[in-house]
Amino acid sequence: MAFDIDMIKAVYAGLGEKIAAARQAVGRPLTQTEKILYAHLYNGSATQAYERGKSYVDFAPDRVAMQDATAQMALLQFMQAGKPKVAVPSSVHCDHLIQARVGANQDLSEAYAENKEVYDFLASVSNKYGIGFWKPGAGIIHTVVQENYAFPGGMMIGTDSHTPNAGGVGMIAIGVGGADAVDVMAGMAWELKFPKVIGVKLTGKMSGWTAPKDVILKVAGILTVKGGTGAIVEYFGEGANSISCSGKSTICNMGAEIGATTSVFGYDDKMREYLIHTDRADVAELADQVAEHLRADDEVYANPESFYDQLIEIDLSTLEPHVNGPFTPDAAWPISEFAAAVREHNWPSKLEVGLIGSCTNSSYEDLTRAASLAQQAIDKGLTVNAEYTITPGSEVVRYTAERDGILNTFAEIGGVVLANACGPCIGQWARHTDDPRRKNSIITSFNRNFAKRNDGNPNTHAFVASPEIVTAFAIAGDLTFNPLTDTLPNKNGEQVKLDEPTGIQFPEKGFSVEDAGYIAPAADSSAVEVIVDPNSDRLQLLEGFAPWSGTNLTGLRLLIKAQGKCTTDHISMAGPWLKYRGHLDNISNNMLIGAINAYNSEANNVKNQLTGAYGEVPAVARAYKAAGIGSVVVGDENYGEGSSREHAAMEPRHLGVLAVLVKSFARIHETNLKKQGMLALTFANKEDYDLVQEDDTFDILGLTEFAPGKPLQVVLHHADGTTHTFDVNHTYNEGQIAWFKAGSALNLIRLQEQT
Ligand code: F3S
Repeated sequence: MAFDIDMIKAVYAGLGEKIAAARQAVGRPLTQTEKILYAHLYNGSATQAYERGKSYVDFAPDRVAMQDATAQMALLQFMQAGKPKVAVPSSVHCDHLIQARVGANQDLSEAYAENKEVYDFLASVSNKYGIGFWKPGAGIIHTVVQENYAFPGGMMIGTDSHTPNAGGVGMIAIGVGGADAVDVMAGMAWELKFPKVIGVKLTGKMSGWTAPKDVILKVAGILTVKGGTGAIVEYFGEGANSISCSGKSTICNMGAEIGATTSVFGYDDKMREYLIHTDRADVAELADQVAEHLRADDEVYANPESFYDQLIEIDLSTLEPHVNGPFTPDAAWPISEFAAAVREHNWPSKLEVGLIGSCTNSSYEDLTRAASLAQQAIDKGLTVNAEYTITPGSEVVRYTAERDGILNTFAEIGGVVLANACGPCIGQWARHTDDPRRKNSIITSFNRNFAKRNDGNPNTHAFVASPEIVTAFAIAGDLTFNPLTDTLPNKNGEQVKLDEPTGIQFPEKGFSVEDAGYIAPAADSSAVEVIVDPNSDRLQLLEGFAPWSGTNLTGLRLLIKAQGKCTTDHISMAGPWLKYRGHLDNISNNMLIGAINAYNSEANNVKNQLTGAYGEVPAVARAYKAAGIGSVVVGDENYGEGSSREHAAMEPRHLGVLAVLVKSFARIHETNLKKQGMLALTFANKEDYDLVQEDDTFDILGLTEFAPGKPLQVVLHHADGTTHTFDVNHTYNEGQIAWFKAGSALNLIRLQEQT
């Protein structure tokens, strides 16, 4: 029996009508992407056509999933909304904070000890607000979502970039920042630029060593890491129908590596079987009834070049296994050319570690195919020549694989089973190496292979391939080995060849588990208390920001005039600061420390106008705040580009910055500033940036008549007594002006909740 079956019924009940309205509005047959998106408009059925790649549209996703690192600030913020429960089904997954050190059991208990305060908070806040909680060890967010929540034709957002994994079950699933999750959980609209649609037509059928992973490795090579930006990739064709559901998820998962908004497959028999085998026959039955709405219109498949913005065709019958890397996932090498590439580029041919599993590639089918090679190694007397690790994606997969002897086969060749968690996939890997300065090679069945991604070591050359290719390389210990053609010496001195891998899609005895690791929220949570240790340096309850005073803002001091690029990394640096992402005051000590001060070209060194002394940006901001003086940040072009990190807007707000005035904004950051109740303003005349002087005091006028499309005025009071007055523009609509007046979007929701 599925989670949320009533919600799924409700989505399907309205599907036919909404899609018909969309077809009418658009005036042509629809792709699968368009059907799902138009069926999830925040304001009901379509009354107009949206332009792909241009229109900004409000959506109402069906669910939210959060991993433990990003969930902390998202849920601290959600608490500010004053809602008794989340507005849509939501879940929290404890997967990112577990470090892979020696093996599953010990690593898990150490993670429990080290992150107790975070887990206690997440468990209690989930319990309080009706959120499903998946405890540490339950599995990786995307695998657990796929096994339990993903459904064809649904739409979800998740606070992790590989959320598109659920596209394998026919869902539009998009990775977002915590602020977006807060909006949807609080019942607000979620805005997205209507994406372009790239079609990938799969013909033929794969066989032998080729695996679903090779489809996305090939696509990454064609489209490159930027080729999918702003687009949803839609897979179709007879070849698509031949790929297992978990194989489809592998392809969608790694679609994040080409920058795609998400990827999706149409509903088919493979999805139906997967739903049935994961205890959701009820969802399969419902999906069957609306199957025509869960894929593109027939005209689109018959004539794809007329309906997709770009069309790619791949023949699975001739697709070779691929190895991609190093350092970038779009460097795609067919296996027949890989050995020569290793030699030509002088990459270390000795393989030190092979890692399989993770959210990308840990299905039962993946594990059985890899295990079939491990078994051959045992049977043929081969010794394994590299370290070998296995990361199951969920406890269901792990338990079932253990029951069926698969993990034992891995153990027999020296494989180490890591916790059901991200581990080396996200750099949470205490890798054992005798010399980290040595150029070395590893190969994984994960998705990302940027420098330092897996083990933090810039000398590591990380390659990506299917679990079966990774396993074959681990046996050989040599990247110039081609398992399709080459032989290996066994312990008797004979040359032996590995046979093609074989796998089993679904376990004969079905999936089973003793404790899946799920904790349902309390039905009545009125007495549940959210646990935050007041002495914690990792977590801090938020206090609502002060509402607008009702008057113009006067006497604000310049905090920093940033020059050149100022990304969200300059505003709120990641790295070591990530551990404070649930503690606004502590993480605010990184505010703007990467921005370059236009007056001295230095980072993190600005003038404190109250003392005349220079100091670090956060310290100077705190000095103004302590004196009851608001401050202003001035910036250059495309200010706030980069990630959707909400900390980049919350930190200035927390430290007393009331306005950010720039030549131009990156759109997401501009919206984040608005949500936090700040003024996000642009120079009407960009040259006015040059008028701002280091000792300036700012007045911002026109706020009592703050209205959409109406400029505000800034008065600069210079130290020599002269002034400059100029117009500044803004893009606030009525609703966003209400956020400003209330002090933040969440304050406004709380006010509305109280009335
Ligand atoms: Fe992300 Fe890998 Fe975890 S892609 S969710 S880090 S397993």
